[in-house]
Amino acid sequence: MTVRKSDTLALLGGRKSIEAPFQLYNSIGAEEVAAAKAVVESGVLSKFLGRWGSDFLGGPKVKEFERDCEAYFGVKHAITVNSWTSGLIAAVGALGVEPGDEIIVTPWTMCASATAIMHWNAIPVFADIDPETFCLDPKSIEANITPYTKAIMSVDIGGHSADIDAINAIARKHKLKVISDTAQAPGALYHGKYAGTLTDIGGYSLNYHKHIHTGEGGILVTNDDALADRMRLIRNHAEAAVGDMGLADISNMIGHNFRLGEIECAIGIEQLKKLAGFVDSRQRAAARLSEGLKGLAGLRTPVVKPDCTHSYYMYFMVVDDAVTGVSRNRIFEALVADGVPGLSTTFANVHLLPMYQRKIAYGSRGFPWTSDICRREVSYAKGICPVAEGLHDRSYIGFQMCMHQMSDAEIDLMVEAFQKVWANLDALR
Ligand SMILES: Cc1ncc(COP(=O)(O)O)c(C=O)c1O
Repeated sequence: MTVRKSDTLALLGGRKSIEAPFQLYNSIGAEEVAAAKAVVESGVLSKFLGRWGSDFLGGPKVKEFERDCEAYFGVKHAITVNSWTSGLIAAVGALGVEPGDEIIVTPWTMCASATAIMHWNAIPVFADIDPETFCLDPKSIEANITPYTKAIMSVDIGGHSADIDAINAIARKHKLKVISDTAQAPGALYHGKYAGTLTDIGGYSLNYHKHIHTGEGGILVTNDDALADRMRLIRNHAEAAVGDMGLADISNMIGHNFRLGEIECAIGIEQLKKLAGFVDSRQRAAARLSEGLKGLAGLRTPVVKPDCTHSYYMYFMVVDDAVTGVSRNRIFEALVADGVPGLSTTFANVHLLPMYQRKIAYGSRGFPWTSDICRREVSYAKGICPVAEGLHDRSYIGFQMCMHQMSDAEIDLMVEAFQKVWANLDALR
């Protein structure tokens, strides 16, 4: 591959480096089709009943998928749910949060991590992120702990684990619980163990965009028997079941229908068998891409911390405009014009969403922030998370690796486009 300065950027009227769309990621094959068909033919598409008894825990495929997940991730309990948003809601409720309790969460995440906190009328408190992994920065967590803090919601964003040893140490010191939102990082390792399995509760999304999926869905994991029981109850109409079950602590036993169906679980069983292979192929694609982009001054490719692996849901890059002399936005425009797919410069800074900026959530009068369950003024002002905001405003470019199959030829084309843009930085200035 030779990229010459004379190759004019598409943004400035030249030919695009990438003409054809990249092949879209599709993890579903003949095995999933056969598994789904068998369930449909059985006529039993769900076996859950919303009362305590033999069908409270669902049907055969739900149970089989859950036992498979327990074996795969090496946890005592895996609990399927109809989305990971539902899983996060069940997790926060199971911890026994009281209305007004504070939970520390990252702003660099999908909104559901924080909304699950809001669901229980608890208060999200946003701490800043580590500039290399984009996950919660333990120092910022400590700085945001107050007498009202109950838990930490750590998100393994983009495919790399947060610094869970440091976060668990803070939690132990301050007697806090920790939830891992590992929606985007199934199969990533932290010190030899699966991300998501190292905190009080963790789990994975099975939505359509994830490494493995069931259309919609999620898997909660925990090694704590009591938390597992409470999450199974919240999943399935808790209030109707706790009496017959003889549960003494009925706090937050407000149930939902968060049940995943038999078809989805049959598909999940097949998908789980393929997870390691999918993660492996993304790691190989990312390694080729990072090798190709090495040496482009002012461009940082994803950082993988020692004794960790990355499962590359996203491929996070950082552009240093002091080095390139060109704004991140201008570089982004040039890359997009040259045909690079799946790029973005924005990632939710969740604290800046209108709900937090205006503090309007339940009804129109500012509940919960204006009620007396909220025991102090919590700020969501721009400036509270300078690292996350700076990445968003100035230096971040993300590539949605999850959307593409990523053949070697496609990666090489992408590298060519980046090299062309870097060879033409002068023309962009
Ligand atoms: C970090 C994170 N948390 C939570 C969710 C919500 O998961 P789901 O779409 O399965 O409800 C997502 C979904 O993309 C996510 O990326």
